[in-house]
Amino acid sequence: MSSSANKKTIKKQLNENYKILSKSHLNDLFNADKNRGKSFTTKLSNLFIDFSKNHITKETLTLLLKYAETLNIKKSIDAMFSGKKINTTEERAVLHYALRGKPEKIKGSENSKIVKKMEDELKNIKKFTSLIHDKKLMGWTDKPLDTFVNIGIGGSDLGPKMVVNALNQYRKNKTRSFFISNIDYEQIESLKRKINPETTLFIISSKSFSTVETITNANTIKSWMIESGCNNINRHFVIVSANQEAAKKFGIKKENLFQTWDCIGGRFSLWSAVGLPISLAIGFDNFERMLSGAYDVDEHFLNQPFEKNIPVTLALIDFWYINFFDSKTHAIIPYDESLKYLPSYLSQLFMESNGKSTDLYGEKIDHSTGAIVWGEVGTNSQHSIGQLLHQGKHIMPIDFLAPLSKKGDQKHHELLLANCFAQSRALMQGYNNKKSYLHFDGNKPSTTILYNELTPQILGSLLAIFEHRVFIQGLLLEINSFDQFGVELGKKIALEISEILEKNEININIDSSTKNLLDIYKESKKNDTKN
Ligand code: F6P
Repeated sequence: MSSSANKKTIKKQLNENYKILSKSHLNDLFNADKNRGKSFTTKLSNLFIDFSKNHITKETLTLLLKYAETLNIKKSIDAMFSGKKINTTEERAVLHYALRGKPEKIKGSENSKIVKKMEDELKNIKKFTSLIHDKKLMGWTDKPLDTFVNIGIGGSDLGPKMVVNALNQYRKNKTRSFFISNIDYEQIESLKRKINPETTLFIISSKSFSTVETITNANTIKSWMIESGCNNINRHFVIVSANQEAAKKFGIKKENLFQTWDCIGGRFSLWSAVGLPISLAIGFDNFERMLSGAYDVDEHFLNQPFEKNIPVTLALIDFWYINFFDSKTHAIIPYDESLKYLPSYLSQLFMESNGKSTDLYGEKIDHSTGAIVWGEVGTNSQHSIGQLLHQGKHIMPIDFLAPLSKKGDQKHHELLLANCFAQSRALMQGYNNKKSYLHFDGNKPSTTILYNELTPQILGSLLAIFEHRVFIQGLLLEINSFDQFGVELGKKIALEISEILEKNEININIDSSTKNLLDIYKESKKNDTKN
């Protein structure tokens, strides 16, 4: 049978399976298999993943695995790990995994040189971190640098911000970290009130070094530092970029430039020098532990058969919901305050990667692609979005995450876990009541990820699972997960509009809504001037 005929046949079988499962209740699956909880739970070192509360059976997973085979998923994984240019639209290799260890397959390939540079840059991160921590690099008044401000946006912000917050208990010395991303001046204004310019180090992080928000914020802060009396910006600014030429123009010395590369997508870059704020906050030893946790997952992902492969299984289930249940959204609910920025980091990771409408061959896609990924920390979510989760009409798979152990008051911790377990159970089982508004259908799917105390190692593993899951989800959806052309049009039009605002001329060719908005703004400016 040809591969496309085979794919069609398996899709038909999956459709049959869908018809059965969409009519049955999750409770039925549990009643039919008393051991379901255990048999659908898998473990990877200190992570436990319970898939049992999903609309799947062993048969579903077998069929999904067969479907994955028709798409040659294994070949694509090998292509990524041997440095092939799998980001076809940008003709780039995808090498973020090589930042956390050197897999066998990459050795000797044309990417060896770049992998060597990655190793050197890691040494630079280590050296720079210890120079700062050992107070060998000081501010312009010879005071130690104890405040780290990252200036970056998207992938040059969300990953480091999420990790620095998640691992705050590992913070070295009495340092503080801040993240400036928004072009809204309010963020800088509030920062200025909190920091001492004499003891602050700014990390300007931009892969392209052309992102308007980052460059504008960096220049504004540079001017403020000079106005504050800084007579040596080299003591206060470092840059992380793949565009070294543009970065040099900012006016700092070579030693203050850190490198990232085209083969490291922004949203996959926290393992590179983009993670410098992480190393500064928690120390290089902990940064390395995070890399090593991710490397463990790389090895698992590469070597485990698909039926035991965690990122693959998670992606197959995602695909099942997106393409068969037509679910448009996926929620991330961490029962862990440390992971409060995980949902926004994952929003970018999933949505920028898999929110596409053309396939790997440039053709329009006729099936659904990546879901809207969003979330909120538990238990806050229960008191805000819980209503829709329990009685709303969307088919919305949820990932619950929770630590098995946490320092601090254990009563709080147990209540936190009790709430986490209660939510997934309530969503699944529902509750019968004759009054419709008091009735809960249940049957709402979720996956629960438990981990021992959130260490750098565990966090690294967790994040690498999500990265590989996104990749496999993209392959199943037949898209390129590594480009992001969808963000460009808005940037281009913003430039056009800011020119209009600068010249104060409203182009008559502009659509009437935008023209009207600009007119309202112009009027409000006139009134501001009068007042
Ligand atoms: O506009 C989207 C984007 O290009 C993301 O992909 C990226 O993470 C972010 O902007 C920041 O880009 P840069 O690191 O080049 O400033």
